[in-house]
Parts: sequence; structure tokens; C-alpha cells
Amino acid sequence: MESAIPAHLQTARSRHRRVPDDYKPPYPSFVARHKPAVTRVIMAYFGVQYRGEPTAAVAEALAQIAARFAADNGPLHWDRARYVDQAGFTNVVSVAYWDSASRFDAWFDQAREAWTGGGEGSGVGCFIEVLRPHVERYETLFSSLDRPEGVAILAEAMSGEVQEHAYWGGMRDRIPLSQTSDMAPSGEPRAVRDGARIRVVAHDNLCLIRSGQDWSDTEASERKMYLDDVEPVLREGMDFLRDDGGPIGCYANRYMRVVDADGRDIEKSYGQSWWRSLAALERWAESHPTHVRIFGAAMKYLSTLGPSAKLRLYHEVTVAAADEQFFEYLNCHPQTGMLAAVATPSAP
Ligand code: HEM
Repeated sequence: MESAIPAHLQTARSRHRRVPDDYKPPYPSFVARHKPAVTRVIMAYFGVQYRGEPTAAVAEALAQIAARFAADNGPLHWDRARYVDQAGFTNVVSVAYWDSASRFDAWFDQAREAWTGGGEGSGVGCFIEVLRPHVERYETLFSSLDRPEGVAILAEAMSGEVQEHAYWGGMRDRIPLSQTSDMAPSGEPRAVRDGARIRVVAHDNLCLIRSGQDWSDTEASERKMYLDDVEPVLREGMDFLRDDGGPIGCYANRYMRVVDADGRDIEKSYGQSWWRSLAALERWAESHPTHVRIFGAAMKYLSTLGPSAKLRLYHEVTVAAADEQFFEYLNCHPQTGMLAAVATPSAP
């Protein structure tokens, strides 16, 4: 059993974990381990938004960003997923990951201009949402060892079994900064107009979760259990956050279906949401009837099946400093991502 916080990020505590030192979780889970030389990771969401069938401009945007990802200084990993939002628009989001800020910086400016710098001409909505957290400011969690996802694909290895999980507060305890900080938010999000584009300047300690599900290897009763009993409850929870998350501190939520290189659905999904604070995300997870139900069901099920469970669950959670964020929207409707957190300023 090891701590989720790697040795080189452990520090004298001013704040304590939620569990005693001899706590033993009821089932195994693992975290991604980067090389100690990695000090920062970059998570960049490139979205394209349209109504109805995808036009040639959509196909071109998707091909173009994929080509840029493959170019010099491009990400070490990216994937693509899709969802239909509350306004009826389809959003296709390509998420890319780097573990070097200098490589990302060398790559980003041109990609940004190409993605959101084109003016309103194409009629297609485009957005960029980037966090570049220091490694103290994020955590991962995996229910199985053999299939890293998202930022974990950049990691050197997976950990052994970690101690800080399977209790409310485990997420916070896995974030190295929680040793010394409550990571409370400060400031209010505001919009800045730049020609046709709108940038959102959010605030210190904004929180992002990507929480993924992979049922591609499940069979028979496990598959039926996931699709019939768990997924509908998950969807209800995701719909709640999408439609009514504002008052509880969820700025935006997307329940995404992952697609393959040809744009076809595969048997993976993830919920991705922007939160005012880690505390607000914790409150939802531990109190909303949907998540409480699937959490309880998953705990029981993982405790019984252990490593032979074929349903894979993972998440990555970041609490970003104010200077580790970038949000920019072109031609998007006002409920898109962090635009939902601000009143959209009118064009000059
Ligand atoms: C099928 C879908 C899901 C299942 C079965 C599930 C189940 C679980 C389980 C078992 C844990 C505890 C993990 C551990 O510490 O060992 C957990 C934690 C958590 N889940 Fe989910 N979850 C699902 C989807 C989601 C989604 C989509 C979100 C939000 C977008 C979410 C938010 C959270 C949060 C914030 C925690 C951390 C709670 C804490 O440590 O205080 N979950 N979930």
C-alpha cells in the first residue's frame, strides 16, 4: 500500500487526511505516476459545435486539428468524444495532453489562431479550454491497472495500490496541495471580448473533473448490470449537472461519448465538468442521490469482483490556479462551457 501522493511531492502537513494512518480501502485502486522531472501537465479541450448534420466546415476543422496534433511539438496523447448539449447542438471535443509547457507553448499559438481566430464566417462554433496545472494541483484514480486513459497515458507508470480512496474526501487527499491548502476559490469569472471571440477569465482554484467509464470488455451479467442499472442513473446525474448545476457550483457539464478515428461511438464515455470549487464537486458527489447510488453500487461490486471486474472506471481532477487557465469561444451559444458562468458581453 502506498500514498497516492508521490514521495517527491510529500511535504510537512498543515492539514490532515480524512482517514487514519492504518486505514485500508476495501478494493484496490491506482494512480498515474509521472517522472519526477515532470512539473506541469497541459490538458487542452478543442471543441467544435454545430446543429444538425456536420457540414464540410466541421469535417475540415476536425481534420485540421488532428493534423496539428500530429505536427511538431504536438500532444503526447489525444482522444475525441461527442455529445448533444442542452441547446440541441452537437459538440465534438478533442482533448489533448502534454507534459511539457515549453512544447505546448511552441505549438499553441498557431493552433489557437486556426481554431478561434477565423472570425464568424464558417458558422461553426469553436472553443478552446485549457488547464496547465502544476503537478501539485491534480490527481488521478483508476479502478484497474492495465488501461490508462487521459493524462495517465503520459505517465511513466501506474502506482501500486494506493491508500487514499473509497471514502468521501479521498479525491482531495490525493491532491498534493491538499497537504497545506484548502484550495478555496477566490474571484468571479468575467468575459473579455476580443473581436468575434470571447475569452473567459475565471478565478483561482477553479476545478475540472473528467470521470470516465469503459464497458468495452464487460460481458453478460456485468454488461447488463452496467447498461441497465448504472448507466441510466449516471445519465440522470449528468443531466442534473447540465441543466441545474449552476446553483450548486457546477458551471458546465458534458456527458461525452468517446468516438474512434472514424467518428463512430465506442464503448467508453466520460463526464467532464467545470466547477467553482473542489468543495462544490465534493458536495455533489457525496450527496446527490444519483452519484450516491452508483458510488455505493460500484463499491460493493468492486469489493466483490476485485481486479477481475471488467468495467473500468477512472478520473482526473484538477484545481487550477488563476494563471493556469485559458478559455476562448467563437460562435458558440451562451451556455457553452465557461460561457455559462458569465454574462456574454455584447459586440462592440
Ligand atoms: C458509472 C459511473 C460512475 C461510478 C460507478 C462512480 C463511482 C464512484 C466511486 C466508486 C468512487 C470512489 C472511488 C474511490 O475513491 O475508490 C467515486 C468517486 C467520485 N466520483 Fe464517481 N462514479 C461515476 C461517475 C462519476 C462522474 C461522471 C462524476 C462527475 C463528473 C463523478 C464524481 C466523483 C467524485 C468527485 C468522486 C470523488 C469523491 C471523493 O473522493 O470525495 N463520478 N465515484
